[in-house]
Amino acid sequence: MPISYNEQERIFRLDTPRTTYLCGLAGSENFLGHVYYGPRVPDDNMGYLLRLEERPFTPDGNPGERASFYDCFPFEYPAWGGGNFRQPCLRTAQGGGSCELFYDSHRVFPGKPPLEGLPAAYGENCSTLEIVLRDPVSDIKVHLLYTVFEDVDVITRSARVENGGSAAVDLTAALSASLELDNEDFDLITLHGSWAREQTIDRRPLASGKQAAFSLRGISSHQFHPFLALCEHSAAQEHGLVYGMSFIYSGNFLAQAELDQFNKVRAVLGIHPDGFSWRLEPGASFQTPEAALVCSGEGLGGMSRAYHDFFRRHLIRGQSKRRPTLLNSWEACYFDFDHDRLLHLGQEAAKYGVELLVVDDGWFGRREDANSSLGDWRVNEEKLPGGLKHLGEELAELGVDLGVWMEPEMISPDSELYRAHPDYAMAIPGRTPSLARDQYVLDLTRREVRDCVYEQISAVLRSAPISYVKWDMNRPLTDVYSPSLPRSRQGETAHRYVLGLYELQERLVTDFPDILLENCCSGGGRFDPGMLYYSPQIWTSDNAEAVDRLVIQEGTSLIYPLSAMGAHVAACPSHVNGRITPFQVRGRVSLPGCFGYELDLDKLSPEEQALIPGQLEEYRRCGPIFRGGDCYRLASYRENGAYDAIMAVTKDKSAAVVSFVQVRSRAYRRSLRLKLAGLEESALY
Ligand code: DGJ
Repeated sequence: MPISYNEQERIFRLDTPRTTYLCGLAGSENFLGHVYYGPRVPDDNMGYLLRLEERPFTPDGNPGERASFYDCFPFEYPAWGGGNFRQPCLRTAQGGGSCELFYDSHRVFPGKPPLEGLPAAYGENCSTLEIVLRDPVSDIKVHLLYTVFEDVDVITRSARVENGGSAAVDLTAALSASLELDNEDFDLITLHGSWAREQTIDRRPLASGKQAAFSLRGISSHQFHPFLALCEHSAAQEHGLVYGMSFIYSGNFLAQAELDQFNKVRAVLGIHPDGFSWRLEPGASFQTPEAALVCSGEGLGGMSRAYHDFFRRHLIRGQSKRRPTLLNSWEACYFDFDHDRLLHLGQEAAKYGVELLVVDDGWFGRREDANSSLGDWRVNEEKLPGGLKHLGEELAELGVDLGVWMEPEMISPDSELYRAHPDYAMAIPGRTPSLARDQYVLDLTRREVRDCVYEQISAVLRSAPISYVKWDMNRPLTDVYSPSLPRSRQGETAHRYVLGLYELQERLVTDFPDILLENCCSGGGRFDPGMLYYSPQIWTSDNAEAVDRLVIQEGTSLIYPLSAMGAHVAACPSHVNGRITPFQVRGRVSLPGCFGYELDLDKLSPEEQALIPGQLEEYRRCGPIFRGGDCYRLASYRENGAYDAIMAVTKDKSAAVVSFVQVRSRAYRRSLRLKLAGLEESALY
């Protein structure tokens, strides 16, 4: 049984194939504390790790030191107050913000319940532990959910906070998970960046105090990523202890590690408490999004492979969908196209056997540049006579599928929608909202707004043979206010926006199950597990220049399967950084992801064009191994400044593929030996 409770020891035990997680009850008041998370151990009588015999003892053993106890006890779900001066997961606006949470009950059951309105892991081969904690004063109950899977070394955690009292409660913090660890000379790893520079790995020694990755932009963001890892200082790609925490959510978040005076670490993950509040009327509850925890004894690579398997098997819906090679119109012609130009791109695609033409931004309303028409999701028949239907039919005759770009969450001030419903744009009463890319954000917390946009986009999708949608989002949330909520509850707006977005995408994937959805947010500004629940692939970055892309894709592969990564051969010199990179290198760097072209194939030299069939053939042969196999990062250009190598091995170890890119060479050096990994020792490849 992967989950058990040892009554004598008062320890809960969760086992994944190779890890064990223990938490247990302490003192006569039944505090819930974290005991152990690490490589699998045979016994669960490890309550001594709570060190309850050391001062300050539990309050029943030393009531005069209750505050000191709160200051150091490894709470499984820490609440504010009583002397817990470290980061709490739970805080309320009432009663000085304090809560004291004690064990109330628990149950273990097979499977895993869905989280209403939220993306969450699923699966048959898993079991769930629910521990209920209760604050006797406010009657707040916290339902902690832990799920373990039989086939992956991942534990998911979330919390449901229920108001069992008779007065309304305002939550001002409700995080998803906390992990208490003894500092083992840890390094902290986060991903950071900017537009065109997403997911760069940042590794540094954990210092005293709080260090965080976070977003307050309403999206998970280009700047930070909803993830952190703690690893032994000596941990490398294939050895050493690593803990990962990944957040299945797409809005404001906090991923924070806090090293305290006792050399203990509290790592928390959840919705960022800044600006957050949630009103709970009596009987109501708040469900936090889910966190996915990994412990790997096999270094960073082991952590990555655990996450890859977990996301492919238990989170991404549509993982098995065919990933067509595509030609995207954006860098080929930006807004400057009409039917004939697109048809010509389709003919080019057909000539080489590229399977899908994606009509990017510019096919709707009066959109000639980025300054108008978002919200008017009707085909511009001047550009495209006969609409997308006509284009789609002509492409079909060529054997090319049709895909289309949309940005459904946005509204341009210069749009029919805005002229009819200016109140649909998020704005703070009395203030002029901030424009970004000349657009406002639609108030997706409101049903009528969601319905209005959904009716439009679904009509487009029904109107033509469209097999792929690129759902874009090109600005952060700024004026976060919704007239649908009273002033006192505006702290709910940012999260309700994300829930509205999830609802919209859920409708789309339900109503159009055959469409392949690819999310995008000015590149990788919302590349997170929450979005992967709806779309099996995400556009990784607007920077498709091969050398920069190596760094971005290395960071992305730290958590996400290569099958999630949109990777295209883009125009040269790069439109983003001006670098000239050989066509062959651009193809090689795109190979491990979901492959496509983002340029005018006609403008390539004959030598470059001659390489296309080989690239497509390589992708057909090697793509499935990269997308479905076990991935090993053999060399990092970010670290060595010269070359990069990534490899994948099929699950049955019958085949393997290595992608090597030499960025720089040194004069008069001999070639190097690349050490492969993950192969069957006795096999010949
Ligand atoms: C940002 C995306 O990341 C690009 O790929 C492109 O679709 C543009 N938006 C279109 O406006």
